[in-house]
Amino acid sequence: MRSGSLAINGGPRAVESLGPFPTKIGKEELLELVDMWELDPGDQQKVRHIIRNATMVKGPHLFRYYNPKPSKVAAAESAMRDLIGTEYCLAVNSCTSALVAAYRALGIGAGDEVIVPGYTFFATAATVASCNAIPVIVDVDESLCLDPGKIEEAITKRTRAIVPVHMRGAPAQMDAIMDIAGRKGLAVVEDVAQAGGGSFKGKRLGSIGTIGCFSFDYYKVIVSGEGGFVTTDDEWLHTRAQSWHDCAACWRPDRFAKERKEGELFCGENYRMSELEGAVALAQIRKADRILAGYRQAKNRIKGAIERPPGLSFRRITDQAGDAAVCLVLFLSNAELTRRAILAMQAEGVPAGGIYDSKVRDWHIFKYWEHILDKKAVARDGLPWSAVPKNELPKYSRDMCPRTLDLLGRSVMVDIDYNYSEQDCRAIAAGINKVLQALLM
Ligand SMILES: Cc1ncc(COP(=O)(O)O)c(C=O)c1O
Repeated sequence: MRSGSLAINGGPRAVESLGPFPTKIGKEELLELVDMWELDPGDQQKVRHIIRNATMVKGPHLFRYYNPKPSKVAAAESAMRDLIGTEYCLAVNSCTSALVAAYRALGIGAGDEVIVPGYTFFATAATVASCNAIPVIVDVDESLCLDPGKIEEAITKRTRAIVPVHMRGAPAQMDAIMDIAGRKGLAVVEDVAQAGGGSFKGKRLGSIGTIGCFSFDYYKVIVSGEGGFVTTDDEWLHTRAQSWHDCAACWRPDRFAKERKEGELFCGENYRMSELEGAVALAQIRKADRILAGYRQAKNRIKGAIERPPGLSFRRITDQAGDAAVCLVLFLSNAELTRRAILAMQAEGVPAGGIYDSKVRDWHIFKYWEHILDKKAVARDGLPWSAVPKNELPKYSRDMCPRTLDLLGRSVMVDIDYNYSEQDCRAIAAGINKVLQALLM
């Protein structure tokens, strides 16, 4: 064959053009999405009809990187940065991922210790262990968040970070915790999973510590089904969290380039958020303050209408204005009375529940974290426990945080919905008063 006929030498091209082809994601996928929204049946039919008959130009690009259109995930990150008030924000696929990325960004690993509260969803502590570090479990106080008075005695030469969890909407005592961390040279990772949008003394949660970790799973203040964010003012920590969250390095300006600075590149995982979650998260972040205002109004109405018989106290809220207000916690004098009060309130139709019942397993309470208490390992290397001499490991036991168990066992938790009307709030408060009068007076 004559080389002069090659296209590279000016000859005719063998393939003149390809396509255009339909995109993989088309009307069928959009119809599946529409199916998830419970529109009025008539409207649902109209929308489906319009979609089926619409001229399809192009389907969406659901990968945040290399997106020909402006990325929804990037827009959600930017909106979250504005809402929380940090310099940097990284979207990930859950708060569990956010916590791992945060710990890894801080360089936490085998032989290190991280202080966590005994009342939090297990993910806060489990991710410490899955990073091969040792969780050190500390009591909560009447705020149901980490007790600053118990932190210093838990600090050892191995401690690298403190993780205050803003539990059930309410801010932890960030001033006292930041003071300890500053004096001891420790990082603070705020677990904001349950209090997204809340604040402490005028600063949004997730902007006070070294790094903030958010959940957007279905049950949180603002939601996207699954999803999470990592917030920080520290550019280097942000860069390292990016490295961990996407080992394919799609996030890098020059993807396959060598390390720009030592410590930028290491073996990470894939925690990327998809454009579908990004789109929902973006809309939710824009609505966050409206949703929070609804929670706060409902909680204030209910709390304000509760009579105060002797023997009743409320959970201590460290900053009323900053409370995300997703629940109201009442403390009674003992666990048995609490159990009876909860059953009676439920019978009245009050959305009340307990937090800890010694007969019910629940991974929000350290006592049931047998993975940690029994020092279970995923592999033969025995990590994280094998990285520390046995006699230097924390002494875990099922009754190690008695104050936590006492407070949780005496807690009645009333769920708040941001949609409650004034009438709903009055009715709920009346139900609570009725039960308290019968049991306490
Ligand atoms: C305090 C706390 N931290 C972390 C998580 C984990 O969040 P995700 O479900 O987004 O991984 C949760 C979820 O329930 C949580 O409540």
